[in-house]
Amino acid sequence: MIGRLNHVAIAVPDLEAAIAQYRDTLGAEVGPPQEEPNHGVTVVFIALPNTKIELLYPLGQNSPITGFLEKNPAGGIHHMCYEVPDIIAARDQLQGAGARVLGNGAPKIGAHGKPVLFLHPKDFNGCLIELEQT
Ligand code: CO
Repeated sequence: MIGRLNHVAIAVPDLEAAIAQYRDTLGAEVGPPQEEPNHGVTVVFIALPNTKIELLYPLGQNSPITGFLEKNPAGGIHHMCYEVPDIIAARDQLQGAGARVLGNGAPKIGAHGKPVLFLHPKDFNGCLIELEQT
């Protein structure tokens, strides 16, 4: 069911420092910061030849990243995003297999303007999984 790895998301405590590190030290192609108020994050995409890295930084009062950074003050891998051709079919199949979908189960529009869902990390070896319809 899942296809390509769309991105790996890293929560960062200092967005400017992380941008400079990926751009200048690692020599990657770093995009501009995008504010995503509906998701409580500022996102920076880094294009790699085979996938993307998504830097996540808290935005607003109830950011889901704030608690993560409290537990992981140096930052850390927050989630992996896998591509699926049909997000509703993927959701129904996964829920049928007993996996929990976060929120109300309805896809939201993600940072790329495409429908996304998140799967409970306790059902996937401690890894928060994002599914994106491509
Ligand atoms: Co993501």
